[in-house]
Amino acid sequence: MIDKSKEKKILCVGAGYVGGPTMAVIASKCPGYTVTVVDIDQKKINGWNSDSLPIYEPGLLETVKKVRGKNLFFSTDIAKEIDACGIIFVSVNTPTKTFGEGAGRAADLQFWEKTARSIIEHSNDDKIVIEKSTLPVRTAEAMHRILQSNSKGLNFDIISNPEFLAEGTAIKDLENPDRVLIGSMDSDSGRKAAAKIAEIYGSWVKKDKILLTNVWSSELSKLVSNAMLAQRISSINSISALCEKTDADVDEVAKAVGMDSRIGPKFLKAGVGFGGSCFKKDILNLVYLCEFYGLNEVAEYWQKVVDVNEFQERRFVLNMIAKMFNTVAGKKIAIFGFAFKADTGDTRESPAIYVAKKLIEEKAELSIHDPEALKNAKIDLKDCNGKISYYRDYLDCVKGVHAVAILTEWNCFKDYDYEKIFSLMEKPPFIFDGRNIVDRKKLFRIGFNVSSIGKTFLTNLDKHN
Ligand code: UDX
Repeated sequence: MIDKSKEKKILCVGAGYVGGPTMAVIASKCPGYTVTVVDIDQKKINGWNSDSLPIYEPGLLETVKKVRGKNLFFSTDIAKEIDACGIIFVSVNTPTKTFGEGAGRAADLQFWEKTARSIIEHSNDDKIVIEKSTLPVRTAEAMHRILQSNSKGLNFDIISNPEFLAEGTAIKDLENPDRVLIGSMDSDSGRKAAAKIAEIYGSWVKKDKILLTNVWSSELSKLVSNAMLAQRISSINSISALCEKTDADVDEVAKAVGMDSRIGPKFLKAGVGFGGSCFKKDILNLVYLCEFYGLNEVAEYWQKVVDVNEFQERRFVLNMIAKMFNTVAGKKIAIFGFAFKADTGDTRESPAIYVAKKLIEEKAELSIHDPEALKNAKIDLKDCNGKISYYRDYLDCVKGVHAVAILTEWNCFKDYDYEKIFSLMEKPPFIFDGRNIVDRKKLFRIGFNVSSIGKTFLTNLDKHN
């Protein structure tokens, strides 16, 4: 049982994309709780304590400002805070392993294990420890063993409470979740711990949306949710390739298919491929898990979702080269959008990284424009030997370019002055819309050659001959 005086004291280890926003929302919805977020990275914590937060999320700064210094605190004093709190969320990163057994697929759990060990070291009473990071199934069991191996006779209840927020809509998703999943061990103390966590969410989430499950179901549900979302994208992207061959229009097909209420319209937008820190990582994790249990057919099935995504990225660049008279060497190409999706500065696993690198390999010169992601783009491309320039202003970016490739679905790209862009570009000018967001007929009328995903090529080239 956790100490009564610490029951309303929450700690979150890891001040990243999940920990920061989640704790800000918990603090704002639960004034009776004190929430502290710790991280080893002093710069990150300084960011959280300032007005320029380490991550960009609509509504985040307002939420943080409402509660920071009242019941939300950011600190690097991990040892002190572990001792002070009864409820500990762990949301440290669990990247794909880059070394040893399972490299490239399995999750790297070293940060999680280090956290578990420091919880043991600095605890002087019982705690509830919550997995917030996405972890391989049965990690809770391993963590429980590590935690229970303490020589102080302390009890640690382990809870799986995966986060389903999507970047760019984090605050909205947290304030109004589809469901909150709380998985616990099948024991009296496990169930009591789950009830305590449910009580926190119950401050603003309806009871029927709080799902209590066993710990393994909760862990697996997170992986499966992401795998199924990504699978829908790969499904429609695979069809986009077929649409280009048959003169079908992928958006029309997606609309027709999505109107079947059993299928539904969401996550059927064809594009240059999915990115983000979760989809690929979680599917690879699922694949690894299936292989581990000898379920090779199941593993292959999910692996294909990632393969099709890579096919889509590759296809996009090959199409650019083919359309631009089979060479981009020495040509200037503008990239609109480097973030893995709109409304975020995050570029992790962004298809733009692959596209940019491939174009550089083909000796193109790149001008990159993104409303939020230029800083990360520079980091992603720092080892590239090629000519790359970065622009906040889109008109500066397109001066003298042969083509514009749209790689992120930023809304603002729709409203840009394409007549002006046309006048600044080399002729014949190409637009490769990797997100199907611009009005392609209008662009075609202006004089562009427009290549969109899963649609016929609109070309003015014949007219120039
Ligand atoms: C995802 C899940 O949605 C979220 O529940 C989980 O907690 C973390 O992973 P996120 O990575 O933030 O969230 O982004 P999401 O909005 O799901 O988009 C992922 C990628 O898929 C983006 O690159 C996006 O552009 C792409 N996408 C999405 C498509 O190409 N087509 C679609 O129809 C939807």
